[in-house]
Amino acid sequence: MMRATCNVQILESRTLAEGRLFSRLKGGGPELSKAKRPLLVVAGTRPEVIKLAPVLKWLGNLNLDYVFVWSGQHYDYELSRVFFEQLGIPNPDEDLDVRSGSHAEQTAKAMVGLEKVIERCVPSVIVAEGDTNTVVASSLAASKCLVPFAHVEAGLRSWNMCMPEEVNRKVADAIASLHVAPTELAAMNLLFEGASPKGVHVTGNTIVDAVNEYECLAKGRGEELLSELGLEKYNYILATVHRAENTDDAQRLANIMMALKELSQYYNVLFPMHPRTKRRLIELGLMGCLERVKVVKPMGYLEFLGALAHAKVVLTDSGGVQEEAFTLKIPTVVLRYNTERPETTMFQISVLAGADKDRIVKLALAQAERAEEVRGLNFENPLGDGLAGRRIAQILKEATEGGLTIEEPDLRETPMIEYRLLKEGDIRGQSLLDLLVAFNEDGKPISPKRGTSMFLARVKGRF
Ligand code: UD1
Ligand code: UDP
Repeated sequence: MMRATCNVQILESRTLAEGRLFSRLKGGGPELSKAKRPLLVVAGTRPEVIKLAPVLKWLGNLNLDYVFVWSGQHYDYELSRVFFEQLGIPNPDEDLDVRSGSHAEQTAKAMVGLEKVIERCVPSVIVAEGDTNTVVASSLAASKCLVPFAHVEAGLRSWNMCMPEEVNRKVADAIASLHVAPTELAAMNLLFEGASPKGVHVTGNTIVDAVNEYECLAKGRGEELLSELGLEKYNYILATVHRAENTDDAQRLANIMMALKELSQYYNVLFPMHPRTKRRLIELGLMGCLERVKVVKPMGYLEFLGALAHAKVVLTDSGGVQEEAFTLKIPTVVLRYNTERPETTMFQISVLAGADKDRIVKLALAQAERAEEVRGLNFENPLGDGLAGRRIAQILKEATEGGLTIEEPDLRETPMIEYRLLKEGDIRGQSLLDLLVAFNEDGKPISPKRGTSMFLARVKGRF
């Protein structure tokens, strides 16, 4: 019988993790009590600032001290400042000036910048929202400095690791101490991956808060815009395209542009163009096919939400736009082959077309026929009830003031675990679980990771 004993390390202190943190944080020190450490809120792109706006508002209402860091991944006025102005968000306390670059460059610059901010501010918790390079950098910088990371919009999964967003959200979720899942489905994904149920909160998506708050104002702004552009309410198609899977693939991008061209024979098409897409279309010489399409600069939030609320159909590869369109009951054609927002396919409000030209055209025309029927649907929004910002702010307040820490297990206090090989001889083809079992000091079989049975499930395998 094989006997392997773990937990032989003797640690100096129960709060070793904390000690390391303080020794690395120049501005801090053990005298800085947890209660006085601020929350650090990080954002850096258009969707993050829009989705964090309701949280920032409620942090203010709850009088919670926070430091607001802008990574600067987005920097054009149309992708950044306009949202601060329209949504009444305070100026960031810090701007990391990350700007454009490769994934590694953006992530690394944000991490280096954040580490400096963490050293200065000694935050209690770091929070970021979504799946961009800014978010993955925040999660890594936080955990390397032993500051608990809270991930808002946790648990979304496309099951496609070729998407940079999927890599970012999976890394962020693996590291997070607190998971703020927008929906039950997202929470289920986290639990299946072994997240501790204690740290998973289902709050609804803050995009519903934003839509509720700004819909009225946006519709007014939208009407002005439509008359400027010569568009008629419920009689045009709105399109957005910017995801790497479409813009970085010349064939896919060309297919989508050809679909917009064809659709422009039936309806007016309004296309606020992301700078990434503009750059690629110019490089590929594809701007020409958009002659009949109304191409405009990226819009402010009020203008865009207004244009969306009055559209007959929206074509998009954006995550946030799928959620907004669903909330406003605007039929949607998703320019992707799958979605990490499966709730939006309820009642076929969203349908998946990928980047297949004929399919996009066919589904867009079919969705246009259903527009009135979809606007008349009556259902409880599974994405949220408009109170997510308040819930998230409360969760963050409790985590900040309650002293959430990254726990280093006190291995001296953990009962001695033994792994025993139960069978000898030829073990080929047998399950590891049948052969190797962990026992506690009293000789009872246990899961080595206390409080969860997921560990054994994860090591399930065969020799
Ligand atoms: C990023 C996110 C994506 C999110 C999108 C929101 C990653 C990996 N991707 O994509 O998940 O959906 O933001 O819009 O984080 N550019 C400008 N001005 C700007 C910003 C960008 O001209 O202010 C141009 C640059 O040419 C840049 C390109 O857009 O190279 C891409 O920008 P980047 O921030 O790398 O990614 P996004 O496509 O915006
Ligand atoms: N949006 C905007 N102006 C535009 C296009 C989009 O304000 O011209 C908003 C939209 O309302 C949504 C958010 O941007 O709230 C979505 O961001 P984006 O599509 O850039 O990123 P994703 O959600 O795909 O990460």
